[in-house]
Amino acid sequence: MSFIQPIILSTAFQQSSNHQYTLDIYRGDLEYPNAPGNKWHKLRHHLKAAEQQNASVIATFGGPFSNHLHAFGATLRHLPFKAVAIVRGELQSQLTPTLRDMADDGVELWPSTRSDYRRGIESEIVGKINQRYGSVYWIPEGGGGALGAKGCHDWANDISAMDDKYDAWVVSSGTGTTAAGLLSNIHAPDLHVFSALKGEPAQRGLILDLANQLTAESILSAELGVKLFFHSDCHEGGFAKQSPALNAFMREFADVNPNHPLDPIYTSKSMFAVFKAMKEGSWPYRRTLFIHTGGLQGWRGYSNHTNPFACS
Ligand SMILES: Cc1ncc(COP(=O)(O)O)c(C=O)c1O
Repeated sequence: MSFIQPIILSTAFQQSSNHQYTLDIYRGDLEYPNAPGNKWHKLRHHLKAAEQQNASVIATFGGPFSNHLHAFGATLRHLPFKAVAIVRGELQSQLTPTLRDMADDGVELWPSTRSDYRRGIESEIVGKINQRYGSVYWIPEGGGGALGAKGCHDWANDISAMDDKYDAWVVSSGTGTTAAGLLSNIHAPDLHVFSALKGEPAQRGLILDLANQLTAESILSAELGVKLFFHSDCHEGGFAKQSPALNAFMREFADVNPNHPLDPIYTSKSMFAVFKAMKEGSWPYRRTLFIHTGGLQGWRGYSNHTNPFACS
């Protein structure tokens, strides 16, 4: 099985567009069952650093449906570290499917108030966990930071080694870590980044800064800027929100591509935005690779009838 697979553009779509587009998908979601998509790539250098620092406890942060938390639990289950997670908000008596899996994986869950959660590594709860366990390695929310991005820089080598003839790559963003890592790789073509968050246009600058930290001196920061295209207007109402237009798109997409499931929060919105640009004829590339960053477990936070891939 190749990780790069073609996306079928419907006949109606082809007729409405004057351009001949090739759109392929890199099935990151199929790569590592415990930490699919970008998750393993963002975790791996953090795990190495924790080992080098002789940490016995690794801790991280996330929301009750977080893909990062889910991957963290499933990965740490097989490693000789104690796993601790700070969960945003109160823990409900009935855990979300994500948190239930984490509890089964042996992760210790610490609920936090939203206001304390926002303080990140400065929060009271981090202090309490450090006090309880002593030497704790902290992975930033979403597996971010320079080490998370470094794993995605390496991921770009794997992707381009399979086919380096694309005019553009497409990736979804939350913290921007994945995008920064991909961008920093000399093999990356033009990179279109679609943010799942509302009101984050400033994230472009953060992605560039992080990519610059990882970039070999041979790539000038101006060159990185030229190949980065950041889109902050495709959130369809906000993080984890679904508009009627997005739902209609997903149904159409799933009809024609039932074996390429998209997740509800990140990849579906990016794919929708690319399809819209292609339909308008404003997408300037002939060969495009869409990088699937995983997140399919996130569907469990939605009622089943909204998931058009459920039966595929
Ligand atoms: C499925 C999926 N895609 C994309 C992203 C965005 O990644 P990043 O936070 O590195 O921008 C996330 C969040 O980690 C995710 O869960």
